[in-house]
Amino acid sequence: MVGTVFYVGVSVIGIVLSEQVRAARLRAESQADLLRVEITEHELTQEQLRRAKIRLEQRAEERVSELFHATIQIQGEGTARQEAEAKVLRLAAIVASSEDAIIGKDLTSLITDWNTGAEHLFGYTSAEVVGSPATLLALPDATDETVGIVEQLLRGEDVPPYETIRLRKDGREVPVSVRISPILVAGCVVGLSSINRDLTHSKQLAEQLRQAQKMETIGQLAGGVAHDFNNILTIMNGYAEILFEGTQPSDPSRDMLQQICDAGTRAAALTHQLLAFSRKQVLQPRVLNLNETVKSTEKLLRRLIGEDVRLATVMSPNIKPVKVDAGQMEQVILNLSINARDAMPHGGVLTIETSDVALGESYAQMHPEVWPGQYTLLTVSDTGTGMDATTKAHIFEPFFTTKGVGYGTGLSPISTAVN
Ligand SMILES: Nc1ncnc2c1ncn2[C@@H]1O[C@H](COP(=O)(O)OP(=O)(O)OP(=O)(O)O)[C@@H](O)[C@H]1O
Ligand SMILES: [Mg+2]
Repeated sequence: MVGTVFYVGVSVIGIVLSEQVRAARLRAESQADLLRVEITEHELTQEQLRRAKIRLEQRAEERVSELFHATIQIQGEGTARQEAEAKVLRLAAIVASSEDAIIGKDLTSLITDWNTGAEHLFGYTSAEVVGSPATLLALPDATDETVGIVEQLLRGEDVPPYETIRLRKDGREVPVSVRISPILVAGCVVGLSSINRDLTHSKQLAEQLRQAQKMETIGQLAGGVAHDFNNILTIMNGYAEILFEGTQPSDPSRDMLQQICDAGTRAAALTHQLLAFSRKQVLQPRVLNLNETVKSTEKLLRRLIGEDVRLATVMSPNIKPVKVDAGQMEQVILNLSINARDAMPHGGVLTIETSDVALGESYAQMHPEVWPGQYTLLTVSDTGTGMDATTKAHIFEPFFTTKGVGYGTGLSPISTAVN
C-alpha cells in the first residue's frame, strides 16, 4: 500500500510538474508572440520613420529651393526698388539744386514746396513761405493769375509759359518767365508746380542790344550828315577867312566876319564830335598813363569849371598804362567835367580819380560789354544835383538832354568811346 501511495504521490508531483512546465511554455510562447508583435510594430515604426524622414528631407529641399527663389526675387525687387529710390533722389536733387525757382502749390494756391533756386530768386527761406499763399509773390495790384490757370489745367489744356513781375522779400521787383504745370498723382491733379526763371539778365542784354542797334543807326546817320556838312563848312570857313584876311582893322564888317569865323570853328568842332561818335574819325590809340592825361587837362578844366567849383584829383600813383586815343580821352574828361559843372550852378567839388580795378565774373555778367580782367578806372564825380532814375536811364542816348534844344551830345560819344 505504501508503495502505491508513493506512486500516487510521485504521479501527483509529476502531474503538478508537467502542469507547471506547460504553463511556463505557454507563457514563453505568449511572450514570444508579444515580442514578435512588438518587433513587427517596431519594424513598422522604423519604416514609417524612414519614410517620414525621406518626406521631411524632400520637404526641406523644396522649402530651401522655394526660399532660394524667393530670395532671388526679393533681391531683384530690392534692386528695382533701390533703383527707383535712387531715381527719385536724383530727381529731387535736380529740383533742389536748380537755379530756376521751382515752387509747388496746392489747388488753393498755398505754397507746399520751395527749392533753393526760389530762396535765391525771391529771398524767402522755405520755412518762411511753406503754407503761405502764393500771392505773397504777386505785385500788390496784380490779380492772382493762377486762378484761371488752374481751371485751364483741370480742363486738360496746356498753359504756355508767360512773363510777369514778381515781388521779392526785400520789396524789389523781378521779371520772370513762369511755366505752370499740374502735379498729377494717379491721374488726378493734386497741385501745381511753377518754374520761375529770372529774366533780369536777359532783359538787360536785350535792352543793351536795342540800345547798341539804336546807337549804330544814329551813328551812321549822324556820321553821314556830319561828313557832308563838314565839307560844306570847309568851303564856308575858307571863304570867311579869306574875306576876314582882306579887311582892314577899321572895316566895320571885320567884326562880323570874325563872328562868322568863330561860329564856323565851333560848327567844325561839333561835326568832328559827331564824326568821332559815328566812329568815322581816325583814332590814334597809343599806350599812355591816364594820370598824365588828367594832368594835361587840369589847366583847361580849371578855366572851364569856374571859380565856384573846386577841382580835386585823387590819382593812384602806380596805375597800369592803357592804350587809348589821347585826344578822345581828354574829350571824355572834358565832357564829364562840363556836365559836373552844369550840375553845380552854386559851386561844389569836382573830383577826378584814377585807380586800377579787377572786374570779376559776376560784374561781367551784369555788364555784357565787359570781359573779366584788369582795368584802369577813371571816376569823375561831383557834389551837384544828381540825376533822377528817368534821366539816368537815358543819359547815353544821343541828343538826350535836360538843357534844351541843341544839347545832348556829351555822354553818348563818351559811351561809344569808352566801349
Ligand atoms: N554830372 C551830372 N549831374 C547831373 N546830371 C547830369 C550829369 N551829367 C549828365 N547829366 C544829365 O544827362 C544829360 C545828358 O548829358 P549830356 O552830356 O549827354 O548832354 P548835355 O550835357 O545835356 O548837353 P551837351 O553835353 O551836348 O552840352 C544832361 O542833360 C543831364 O540831365
Ligand atoms: Mg554834357
